[in-house]
Amino acid sequence: MDKFVIEGGHPLSGTVEISGSKNAALPLMAAALMAARPCVVRNVPSLSDVRTMTGVLRELGMDADYDPASRTFTASVRDTSRCTAPYSLVKKMRASISVLGPLVAARGYAKVSYPGGCAIGTRPIDLHLKGLSALGVRFKIEHGYIIARAERLKGAEIYLGGHYGSSVLATANVMCAAALAEGETVISHAAAEPEIVDLAGFLNAMGASVEGAGSTRVVVRGVSSLSGADYSVIPDRIEAATFLIAAAMTRSPLTVKGAVYAHLNAVIDKLQEVGVGILRTDAGLEVVPSERMRPVEITTLPYPGFPTDVQAQMMALLALVRGTSFVTERIFPDRFMHVAELNRLGADIRRAGPTAVINGVSRLSGAHVMASDLRASAALVLAGLVAEGTTEVLRIYHIDRGYERIEEKLNLLGARIKRLPAEGVY
Ligand code: EPZ
Repeated sequence: MDKFVIEGGHPLSGTVEISGSKNAALPLMAAALMAARPCVVRNVPSLSDVRTMTGVLRELGMDADYDPASRTFTASVRDTSRCTAPYSLVKKMRASISVLGPLVAARGYAKVSYPGGCAIGTRPIDLHLKGLSALGVRFKIEHGYIIARAERLKGAEIYLGGHYGSSVLATANVMCAAALAEGETVISHAAAEPEIVDLAGFLNAMGASVEGAGSTRVVVRGVSSLSGADYSVIPDRIEAATFLIAAAMTRSPLTVKGAVYAHLNAVIDKLQEVGVGILRTDAGLEVVPSERMRPVEITTLPYPGFPTDVQAQMMALLALVRGTSFVTERIFPDRFMHVAELNRLGADIRRAGPTAVINGVSRLSGAHVMASDLRASAALVLAGLVAEGTTEVLRIYHIDRGYERIEEKLNLLGARIKRLPAEGVY
């Protein structure tokens, strides 16, 4: 297992190019299971999650390949008799659940390991099962596997709102299955994330009829088969937000290139409220840093609200903003593993139920910290950029799941990060 050794205190400058979206690419790759012809998905970021999903699809009888040089994923169905997504792969990535809808829709049978929890919460799948059952899928849960069977799927009216609002991957699963169901499906309280819009674009490129993606009401008119498609995924809005926050924290006038402004409204609004300027230019999003930043209150919500995947990174920024800020996590109430690690760096954050109370401090000091999940790792790297002295972030395999070469991108901007093998077991 590797670690990052970060020398704090170096300002950043220049332009960073945003990679393709991990959370758009993964469900799109899974949707290729339904294609009667080969699929090509471009701008797919070179991440361990992409390699894991490619492995899952190979297990499911796909000729699936990912080329990191061209960031291109290609897949075609070879053997439809292989319908089991094994625990050994699913345990590495919860997003493997996004093969469930496409697989049972395309083959009438799917056996997918029941996804476990992770550092950010228990991660239930009741909405996935509710939505697919409404289309005619019958489920059995046994020996840690979801076993799904269906003859002909039939369109239905489905309400997909849950205790925490909409569900991104449940919406993706139901949208995919509905694309091959008989008749019309109306999904209300659908997730409206840009990644869902991208999946709908891919399905329609394959010959599906999906309308309303990006709103909370999606209408899918089923077709008898789906062809292949050649499609390019959107830029990663979470990576873009992470670099905007890196610029704010290091007070660096960075340019973030390739981000879609409209995908970042909530994040940009909050950064502006803190006092950071974000200019839209032909070169991209230019950050105008501020010496005097203001404390704010943030609540994470489904899109277009403030994204839960940017909560930890924003907390790292607010740890250095004089005054008291409040961050309330409404999507994954336990998503605060980064609080204890930020406090090890000298932050003053305490948890009050689903809210973190952040008393800004004047400086952070370098320490050994432990990454726990993808976005918490990013927050610790950002904190290390400004902490005095050296910060060692352990277990950075978490960060490699969702950020493409983050240390190389940051070093090109002036950071001093080394990726080293970590000694011993920890
Ligand atoms: C997607 O996960 C993203 N992952 C997550 O990003 C992101 O945090 C999340 O959406 C919310 O935006 C991918 O797209 C691969 P949800 P997903 O279903 O779809 C509850 C990252 O860092 N829920 O939208 O699994 C759930 O517990 C990752 O890139 C149910 O109650 O999340 C949560 O509280 C982390 N029942 C809320 O809904 C269900 O059946 C939203 O979860 C499903 C979810």
